[in-house]
Amino acid sequence: GLGFYTGEDGYLYVDNLRIDDIRAEVKNSPFYLYSQNRITANYQAYADALKGLDHFVGYAVKANNNLPIMRHLQSLGSGAVLVSGNELQAAEAAGFDTTRTIFNGNGKLPEELRLAILKGALINVDSEFDLENIAAAAKAVDRTARVLIRINPDVDPQVHAYVSTGLANSKFGIRNSHLQWFLNRIREEPLLELAGVHSHLGSTITKVDIFRDAAQIMIGFIKQIRAEGFDPKYLNIGGGLGIDYYRRGDAFPSPADLVDTVRDLVADLGLTMILEPGRSMIGNASALVNTVTGTKTNGNKNFIVVDGSMSALIRPSLYDAYQHIELTAPGDGPEQVFDIVGPVCESADFLGKERALRTPSAGDGLVVHDAGAYCMAMASTYNLKMRPAEYWVADGQLKQIRRGETLEDHLRMFEGL
Ligand code: LLP
Repeated sequence: GLGFYTGEDGYLYVDNLRIDDIRAEVKNSPFYLYSQNRITANYQAYADALKGLDHFVGYAVKANNNLPIMRHLQSLGSGAVLVSGNELQAAEAAGFDTTRTIFNGNGKLPEELRLAILKGALINVDSEFDLENIAAAAKAVDRTARVLIRINPDVDPQVHAYVSTGLANSKFGIRNSHLQWFLNRIREEPLLELAGVHSHLGSTITKVDIFRDAAQIMIGFIKQIRAEGFDPKYLNIGGGLGIDYYRRGDAFPSPADLVDTVRDLVADLGLTMILEPGRSMIGNASALVNTVTGTKTNGNKNFIVVDGSMSALIRPSLYDAYQHIELTAPGDGPEQVFDIVGPVCESADFLGKERALRTPSAGDGLVVHDAGAYCMAMASTYNLKMRPAEYWVADGQLKQIRRGETLEDHLRMFEGL
Protein backbone atom coordinates (compact mmCIF):
# COMPACT_ATOMS: atom_id res chain seq x y z
CA GLY A 1 0.00 0.00 0.00
CA LEU A 2 0.98 3.61 -0.57
CA GLY A 3 -0.19 6.25 1.88
CA PHE A 4 -3.34 5.81 3.98
CA TYR A 5 -5.83 3.04 3.25
CA THR A 6 -8.18 0.57 4.95
CA GLY A 7 -6.82 -2.97 4.92
CA GLU A 8 -8.87 -6.09 4.24
CA ASP A 9 -9.04 -6.59 8.02
CA GLY A 10 -10.91 -3.27 8.38
CA TYR A 11 -8.02 -1.52 10.15
CA LEU A 12 -6.48 1.67 8.87
CA TYR A 13 -2.91 1.48 7.53
CA VAL A 14 -0.18 3.81 6.43
CA ASP A 15 2.07 2.16 3.85
CA ASN A 16 2.61 -1.30 5.36
CA LEU A 17 1.96 -0.41 9.02
CA ARG A 18 -1.27 -0.63 11.01
CA ILE A 19 -2.01 2.76 12.56
CA ASP A 20 -3.20 1.13 15.80
CA ASP A 21 0.22 -0.53 16.13
CA ILE A 22 1.85 2.86 15.61
CA ARG A 23 -0.43 4.39 18.25
CA ALA A 24 0.57 1.71 20.75
CA GLU A 25 4.24 2.36 20.06
CA VAL A 26 4.13 6.16 20.02
CA LYS A 27 1.89 6.85 23.05
CA ASN A 28 2.06 10.54 22.21
CA SER A 29 -1.46 11.46 21.07
CA PRO A 30 -2.37 13.50 19.10
CA PHE A 31 0.40 13.24 16.54
CA TYR A 32 0.97 13.84 12.83
CA LEU A 33 1.82 10.78 10.78
CA TYR A 34 3.29 10.92 7.26
CA SER A 35 4.04 8.53 4.44
CA GLN A 36 7.40 9.34 2.90
CA ASN A 37 6.50 7.20 -0.12
CA ARG A 38 3.41 9.32 -0.72
CA ILE A 39 5.51 12.51 -0.67
CA THR A 40 7.93 10.97 -3.16
CA ALA A 41 5.04 9.92 -5.42
CA ASN A 42 3.54 13.42 -5.26
CA TYR A 43 6.84 15.02 -6.30
CA GLN A 44 7.28 12.42 -9.02
CA ALA A 45 3.82 13.21 -10.39
CA TYR A 46 4.98 16.80 -11.01
CA ALA A 47 8.34 15.73 -12.42
CA ASP A 48 6.62 13.29 -14.81
CA ALA A 49 3.96 15.82 -15.80
CA LEU A 50 6.66 18.36 -16.70
CA LYS A 51 8.78 16.00 -18.85
CA GLY A 52 9.67 17.63 -22.14
CA LEU A 53 9.33 21.15 -20.75
CA ASP A 54 12.21 23.17 -19.37
CA HIS A 55 11.06 23.58 -15.77
CA PHE A 56 11.65 23.68 -12.08
CA VAL A 57 9.27 22.79 -9.29
CA GLY A 58 9.38 25.00 -6.22
CA TYR A 59 7.82 23.40 -3.17
CA ALA A 60 5.82 26.02 -1.20
CA VAL A 61 7.37 25.61 2.24
CA LYS A 62 4.50 27.44 3.95
CA ALA A 63 2.40 24.28 3.50
CA ASN A 64 4.71 22.29 5.75
CA ASN A 65 8.07 23.37 7.13
CA ASN A 66 9.13 20.12 8.78
CA LEU A 67 12.88 19.94 8.17
CA PRO A 68 13.22 16.23 7.28
CA ILE A 69 10.30 16.64 4.86
CA MET A 70 11.96 19.68 3.27
CA ARG A 71 15.25 17.79 3.10
CA HIS A 72 13.51 14.87 1.42
CA LEU A 73 11.87 17.07 -1.24
CA GLN A 74 15.20 18.78 -1.82
CA SER A 75 16.89 15.40 -2.32
CA LEU A 76 14.28 14.54 -4.97
CA GLY A 77 15.23 17.65 -6.95
CA SER A 78 12.71 20.22 -5.75
CA GLY A 79 13.37 23.93 -5.40
CA ALA A 80 11.63 25.95 -2.68
CA VAL A 81 9.06 28.76 -2.62
CA LEU A 82 9.36 31.04 0.40
CA VAL A 83 7.43 33.84 2.03
CA SER A 84 9.78 34.95 4.79
CA GLY A 85 13.44 35.29 5.61
CA ASN A 86 13.00 32.53 8.17
CA GLU A 87 11.61 30.19 5.53
CA LEU A 88 14.62 31.04 3.36
CA GLN A 89 17.01 30.15 6.18
CA ALA A 90 15.08 26.96 6.94
CA ALA A 91 15.29 26.02 3.25
CA GLU A 92 19.02 26.57 3.33
CA ALA A 93 19.26 24.43 6.50
CA ALA A 94 17.36 21.71 4.65
CA GLY A 95 19.96 21.79 1.88
CA PHE A 96 18.07 23.66 -0.84
CA ASP A 97 20.18 25.48 -3.42
CA THR A 98 19.05 29.03 -2.64
CA THR A 99 19.53 30.10 -6.27
CA ARG A 100 16.62 27.73 -7.00
CA THR A 101 14.30 29.38 -4.51
CA ILE A 102 11.62 32.00 -5.05
CA PHE A 103 10.76 34.67 -2.51
CA ASN A 104 7.09 35.69 -2.56
CA GLY A 105 4.96 38.07 -0.59
CA ASN A 106 3.13 41.34 -0.47
CA GLY A 107 4.99 42.63 2.59
CA LYS A 108 8.58 41.50 2.27
CA LEU A 109 10.79 43.34 4.76
CA PRO A 110 14.03 45.18 3.84
CA GLU A 111 16.21 42.78 5.87
CA GLU A 112 14.48 39.78 4.29
CA LEU A 113 15.10 41.23 0.83
CA ARG A 114 18.78 41.80 1.55
CA LEU A 115 19.11 38.17 2.64
CA ALA A 116 17.20 36.88 -0.42
CA ILE A 117 19.42 38.90 -2.78
CA LEU A 118 22.62 37.73 -1.06
CA LYS A 119 21.42 34.12 -1.37
CA GLY A 120 20.59 34.57 -5.06
CA ALA A 121 16.88 33.82 -4.70
CA LEU A 122 14.42 34.82 -7.41
CA ILE A 123 12.11 37.51 -6.06
CA ASN A 124 8.50 38.07 -7.09
CA VAL A 125 7.70 41.80 -7.15
CA ASP A 126 4.31 42.56 -5.66
CA SER A 127 3.90 46.38 -5.72
CA GLU A 128 5.58 49.72 -6.39
CA PHE A 129 6.93 49.98 -2.85
CA ASP A 130 8.13 46.37 -3.01
CA LEU A 131 10.19 47.13 -6.14
CA GLU A 132 11.67 50.21 -4.45
CA ASN A 133 12.59 48.10 -1.40
CA ILE A 134 14.17 45.46 -3.66
CA ALA A 135 16.20 48.11 -5.50
CA ALA A 136 17.38 49.61 -2.19
CA ALA A 137 18.29 46.16 -0.81
CA ALA A 138 20.25 45.33 -3.99
CA LYS A 139 22.23 48.54 -3.60
CA ALA A 140 22.81 47.89 0.11
CA VAL A 141 24.39 44.49 -0.57
CA ASP A 142 25.77 45.53 -3.99
CA ARG A 143 24.38 42.48 -5.75
CA THR A 144 21.97 42.02 -8.66
CA ALA A 145 18.37 41.17 -7.74
CA ARG A 146 16.63 38.81 -10.15
CA VAL A 147 12.95 39.70 -10.14
CA LEU A 148 9.74 38.30 -11.57
CA ILE A 149 6.76 40.59 -11.93
CA ARG A 150 3.73 39.14 -10.15
CA ILE A 151 0.76 39.83 -12.36
CA ASN A 152 -2.70 39.90 -10.85
CA PRO A 153 -4.56 38.43 -13.85
CA ASP A 154 -8.07 38.86 -12.38
CA VAL A 155 -8.92 35.20 -12.96
CA ASP A 156 -11.47 33.72 -10.55
CA PRO A 157 -10.21 30.44 -9.05
CA GLN A 158 -13.72 29.66 -7.70
CA VAL A 159 -12.49 28.79 -4.23
CA HIS A 160 -13.03 30.08 -0.66
CA ALA A 161 -12.43 33.85 -0.50
CA TYR A 162 -9.62 33.39 2.05
CA VAL A 163 -7.55 31.31 -0.38
CA SER A 164 -8.33 33.30 -3.53
CA THR A 165 -5.41 35.55 -4.51
CA GLY A 166 -5.56 36.57 -8.18
CA LEU A 167 -8.71 38.68 -8.31
CA ALA A 168 -8.69 42.39 -9.20
CA ASN A 169 -9.48 43.42 -5.61
CA SER A 170 -7.00 41.04 -3.96
CA LYS A 171 -4.04 42.41 -2.00
CA PHE A 172 -1.61 40.40 -4.18
CA GLY A 173 0.17 41.23 -7.42
CA ILE A 174 0.10 44.02 -9.98
CA ARG A 175 -2.77 44.87 -12.30
CA ASN A 176 -2.14 45.10 -16.06
CA SER A 177 -2.69 48.86 -16.16
CA HIS A 178 0.39 49.40 -13.95
CA LEU A 179 2.88 47.13 -15.68
CA GLN A 180 4.65 49.77 -17.77
CA TRP A 181 5.75 51.66 -14.66
CA PHE A 182 7.58 48.54 -13.45
CA LEU A 183 9.35 48.01 -16.77
CA ASN A 184 10.54 51.60 -16.81
CA ARG A 185 11.71 51.45 -13.22
CA ILE A 186 13.59 48.14 -13.71
CA ARG A 187 15.30 49.54 -16.81
CA GLU A 188 16.59 52.51 -14.77
CA GLU A 189 18.23 50.35 -12.08
CA PRO A 190 21.38 48.48 -13.13
CA LEU A 191 21.11 46.11 -10.14
CA LEU A 192 17.60 44.94 -11.13
CA GLU A 193 17.32 42.09 -13.64
CA LEU A 194 13.89 41.24 -15.04
CA ALA A 195 13.99 37.44 -14.84
CA GLY A 196 10.38 36.67 -15.66
CA VAL A 197 6.68 36.81 -14.91
CA HIS A 198 4.67 35.23 -12.09
CA SER A 199 1.06 34.75 -11.14
CA HIS A 200 -0.65 32.74 -8.42
CA LEU A 201 -4.41 32.37 -8.61
CA GLY A 202 -5.35 30.85 -5.29
CA SER A 203 -5.42 27.53 -3.53
CA THR A 204 -7.61 24.36 -3.50
CA ILE A 205 -8.21 24.83 -7.25
CA THR A 206 -10.15 22.05 -8.96
CA LYS A 207 -10.81 23.64 -12.37
CA VAL A 208 -7.39 23.56 -14.02
CA ASP A 209 -8.43 25.36 -17.22
CA ILE A 210 -8.08 28.66 -15.33
CA PHE A 211 -4.30 28.09 -15.41
CA ARG A 212 -4.59 28.32 -19.19
CA ASP A 213 -6.48 31.63 -18.92
CA ALA A 214 -3.76 33.01 -16.64
CA ALA A 215 -0.93 31.66 -18.84
CA GLN A 216 -2.44 33.40 -21.87
CA ILE A 217 -2.43 36.72 -20.03
CA MET A 218 1.14 36.16 -18.85
CA ILE A 219 2.37 35.22 -22.31
CA GLY A 220 0.88 38.43 -23.70
CA PHE A 221 2.97 40.26 -21.15
CA ILE A 222 6.09 38.22 -22.00
CA LYS A 223 5.69 39.34 -25.62
CA GLN A 224 5.37 42.94 -24.53
CA ILE A 225 8.48 42.88 -22.36
CA ARG A 226 10.51 41.10 -25.05
CA ALA A 227 9.45 43.77 -27.52
CA GLU A 228 10.87 46.32 -25.08
CA GLY A 229 14.25 44.59 -25.16
CA PHE A 230 14.12 42.54 -21.94
CA ASP A 231 15.22 38.90 -21.94
CA PRO A 232 12.95 37.04 -19.46
CA LYS A 233 13.89 33.47 -18.48
CA TYR A 234 11.00 32.26 -16.33
CA LEU A 235 7.26 31.81 -16.61
CA ASN A 236 6.02 31.06 -13.09
CA ILE A 237 2.39 29.96 -13.02
CA GLY A 238 2.27 29.58 -9.24
CA GLY A 239 0.72 26.81 -7.16
CA GLY A 240 -2.81 26.11 -6.08
CA LEU A 241 -3.81 22.66 -7.32
CA GLY A 242 -6.40 21.22 -4.95
CA ILE A 243 -6.48 17.72 -3.49
CA ASP A 244 -9.32 15.25 -3.16
CA TYR A 245 -10.33 16.06 0.44
CA TYR A 246 -13.66 14.26 -0.02
CA ARG A 247 -11.74 11.15 -1.14
CA ARG A 248 -14.15 10.48 -3.95
CA GLY A 249 -11.35 9.56 -6.33
CA ASP A 250 -13.39 10.36 -9.43
CA ALA A 251 -11.36 12.20 -12.06
CA PHE A 252 -9.77 14.68 -9.66
CA PRO A 253 -7.30 16.90 -11.60
CA SER A 254 -3.69 15.75 -11.36
CA PRO A 255 -0.42 17.65 -11.89
CA ALA A 256 -0.44 16.18 -15.43
CA ASP A 257 -3.90 17.68 -16.07
CA LEU A 258 -2.64 21.05 -14.86
CA VAL A 259 0.51 20.98 -16.99
CA ASP A 260 -1.35 19.70 -20.05
CA THR A 261 -3.69 22.73 -20.01
CA VAL A 262 -0.71 25.01 -20.64
CA ARG A 263 1.78 22.71 -22.39
CA ASP A 264 1.11 23.81 -25.98
CA LEU A 265 1.13 27.49 -24.96
CA VAL A 266 4.49 27.36 -23.21
CA ALA A 267 6.34 24.63 -25.16
CA ASP A 268 8.03 26.90 -27.70
CA LEU A 269 8.41 30.06 -25.65
CA GLY A 270 12.06 29.44 -24.77
CA LEU A 271 11.29 29.94 -21.07
CA THR A 272 11.75 27.81 -17.97
CA MET A 273 8.35 27.07 -16.45
CA ILE A 274 8.08 27.26 -12.67
CA LEU A 275 5.32 25.69 -10.60
CA GLU A 276 4.85 26.44 -6.89
CA PRO A 277 2.85 23.54 -5.43
CA GLY A 278 2.38 23.21 -1.68
CA ARG A 279 -0.83 21.37 -0.85
CA SER A 280 -0.65 18.89 -3.75
CA MET A 281 2.90 17.96 -2.75
CA ILE A 282 2.27 17.14 0.89
CA GLY A 283 -1.47 17.35 1.75
CA ASN A 284 -2.50 13.73 1.22
CA ALA A 285 0.73 12.37 2.72
CA SER A 286 -0.36 12.84 6.33
CA ALA A 287 -3.10 12.34 8.88
CA LEU A 288 -3.59 13.76 12.35
CA VAL A 289 -3.97 10.75 14.65
CA ASN A 290 -6.15 11.43 17.69
CA THR A 291 -7.48 9.41 20.62
CA VAL A 292 -11.15 9.43 21.57
CA THR A 293 -11.74 10.89 25.04
CA GLY A 294 -15.49 10.16 25.09
CA THR A 295 -18.85 10.62 23.39
CA LYS A 296 -21.82 12.72 24.46
CA THR A 297 -25.19 13.95 23.23
CA ASN A 298 -26.67 17.46 23.62
CA GLY A 299 -30.06 18.31 22.13
CA ASN A 300 -30.13 16.56 18.78
CA LYS A 301 -26.33 16.52 18.39
CA ASN A 302 -23.95 13.64 19.03
CA PHE A 303 -20.34 14.48 19.73
CA ILE A 304 -17.11 12.55 19.63
CA VAL A 305 -14.59 14.37 21.81
CA VAL A 306 -10.95 13.70 20.90
CA ASP A 307 -7.62 14.97 22.25
CA GLY A 308 -6.71 16.81 19.02
CA SER A 309 -8.23 20.25 18.47
CA MET A 310 -8.24 23.48 16.49
CA SER A 311 -4.86 24.14 18.12
CA ALA A 312 -3.36 21.21 16.22
CA LEU A 313 -5.49 21.57 13.07
CA ILE A 314 -7.41 24.78 12.39
CA ARG A 315 -8.56 24.40 8.77
CA PRO A 316 -12.10 23.20 9.60
CA SER A 317 -12.60 26.08 12.07
CA LEU A 318 -11.01 28.74 9.87
CA TYR A 319 -12.26 27.86 6.38
CA ASP A 320 -15.07 25.44 7.14
CA ALA A 321 -12.77 23.02 5.34
CA TYR A 322 -13.77 19.39 4.94
CA GLN A 323 -11.16 16.79 5.87
CA HIS A 324 -12.19 13.17 5.88
CA ILE A 325 -12.41 11.47 9.29
CA GLU A 326 -12.17 7.76 10.07
CA LEU A 327 -11.73 5.51 13.08
CA THR A 328 -8.52 3.48 12.99
CA ALA A 329 -10.19 0.14 13.79
CA PRO A 330 -13.41 -1.70 12.96
CA GLY A 331 -15.89 -2.23 15.80
CA ASP A 332 -19.49 -3.00 16.62
CA GLY A 333 -20.76 0.31 18.07
CA PRO A 334 -23.94 1.51 16.27
CA GLU A 335 -23.44 3.98 13.41
CA GLN A 336 -24.57 7.52 14.25
CA VAL A 337 -24.00 11.03 12.94
CA PHE A 338 -21.41 12.92 15.00
CA ASP A 339 -19.64 16.23 15.23
CA ILE A 340 -15.97 15.55 16.03
CA VAL A 341 -14.72 18.15 18.48
CA GLY A 342 -11.64 18.89 20.56
CA PRO A 343 -11.12 20.02 24.17
CA VAL A 344 -10.48 23.70 23.38
CA CYS A 345 -12.81 26.15 25.08
CA GLU A 346 -14.75 27.49 22.14
CA SER A 347 -17.48 26.29 19.83
CA ALA A 348 -15.27 26.87 16.77
CA ASP A 349 -13.18 23.94 17.97
CA PHE A 350 -14.30 21.19 15.64
CA LEU A 351 -12.48 18.85 13.28
CA GLY A 352 -15.53 17.67 11.36
CA LYS A 353 -19.29 18.07 11.36
CA GLU A 354 -22.09 15.59 10.75
CA ARG A 355 -20.01 12.54 10.01
CA ALA A 356 -21.53 9.07 10.03
CA LEU A 357 -19.26 6.84 12.11
CA ARG A 358 -19.64 3.82 14.35
CA THR A 359 -19.93 4.85 17.99
CA PRO A 360 -16.38 4.66 19.35
CA SER A 361 -15.14 3.92 22.87
CA ALA A 362 -12.71 6.00 24.90
CA GLY A 363 -9.18 5.18 23.78
CA ASP A 364 -10.09 4.40 20.17
CA GLY A 365 -8.04 5.99 17.40
CA LEU A 366 -9.56 8.61 15.09
CA VAL A 367 -7.71 10.17 12.16
CA VAL A 368 -8.25 13.40 10.28
CA HIS A 369 -7.01 12.70 6.76
CA ASP A 370 -5.14 14.86 4.27
CA ALA A 371 -3.48 16.83 7.05
CA GLY A 372 -0.04 17.29 5.47
CA ALA A 373 -0.57 20.84 4.19
CA TYR A 374 -1.44 23.92 6.26
CA CYS A 375 -2.21 21.84 9.35
CA MET A 376 0.94 21.45 11.44
CA ALA A 377 2.22 24.63 9.75
CA MET A 378 -0.77 26.56 11.13
CA ALA A 379 -0.87 24.86 14.54
CA SER A 380 -0.86 27.02 17.66
CA THR A 381 -0.58 26.42 21.39
CA TYR A 382 -4.01 27.86 22.18
CA ASN A 383 -5.21 26.61 25.59
CA LEU A 384 -1.61 25.44 26.00
CA LYS A 385 -2.36 22.43 23.87
CA MET A 386 1.22 22.04 22.74
CA ARG A 387 2.12 21.45 19.08
CA PRO A 388 2.14 17.71 18.36
CA ALA A 389 5.07 15.49 17.44
CA GLU A 390 5.50 14.27 13.85
CA TYR A 391 6.42 10.80 12.57
CA TRP A 392 6.79 9.30 9.16
CA VAL A 393 6.97 5.87 7.69
CA ALA A 394 10.06 5.59 5.49
CA ASP A 395 11.39 2.34 4.02
CA GLY A 396 8.67 0.56 5.96
CA GLN A 397 9.91 1.91 9.30
CA LEU A 398 8.32 4.35 11.70
CA LYS A 399 10.56 7.29 12.55
CA GLN A 400 10.01 10.45 14.60
CA ILE A 401 10.72 13.54 12.50
CA ARG A 402 9.86 16.25 15.02
CA ARG A 403 9.55 16.12 18.76
CA GLY A 404 6.37 17.35 20.38
CA GLU A 405 6.43 20.79 21.90
CA THR A 406 6.35 20.72 25.70
CA LEU A 407 5.17 22.97 28.47
CA GLU A 408 8.85 23.48 29.32
CA ASP A 409 9.36 24.97 25.83
CA HIS A 410 6.63 27.45 26.67
CA LEU A 411 7.88 28.33 30.15
CA ARG A 412 11.43 28.82 28.88
CA MET A 413 10.35 31.93 26.97
CA PHE A 414 9.73 33.68 30.28
CA GLU A 415 12.95 32.71 32.01
CA GLY A 416 15.03 35.60 33.26
CA LEU A 417 12.49 38.30 32.35
N1 LLP B 1 2.64 30.31 -4.35
C1 LLP B 1 2.08 31.36 -3.72
C2 LLP B 1 2.46 32.70 -4.13
C3 LLP B 1 1.13 31.16 -2.70
O1 LLP B 1 0.58 32.21 -2.10
C4 LLP B 1 0.78 29.84 -2.32
C5 LLP B 1 -0.20 29.58 -1.25
C6 LLP B 1 1.39 28.77 -3.00
C7 LLP B 1 2.31 29.04 -4.01
C8 LLP B 1 1.06 27.33 -2.69
O2 LLP B 1 -0.28 27.07 -2.96
P1 LLP B 1 -0.85 25.58 -2.87
O3 LLP B 1 -0.24 24.78 -3.98
O4 LLP B 1 -0.47 25.02 -1.55
O5 LLP B 1 -2.31 25.74 -3.00
N2 LLP B 1 -3.93 28.04 4.58
C9 LLP B 1 -4.77 27.80 3.43
C10 LLP B 1 -3.98 27.87 2.14
C11 LLP B 1 -3.25 29.17 1.94
C12 LLP B 1 -2.48 29.20 0.64
C13 LLP B 1 -1.63 30.42 0.54
N3 LLP B 1 -0.83 30.53 -0.64
C14 LLP B 1 -5.45 26.45 3.61
O6 LLP B 1 -5.22 25.79 4.61
O7 LLP B 1 -6.25 26.05 2.78
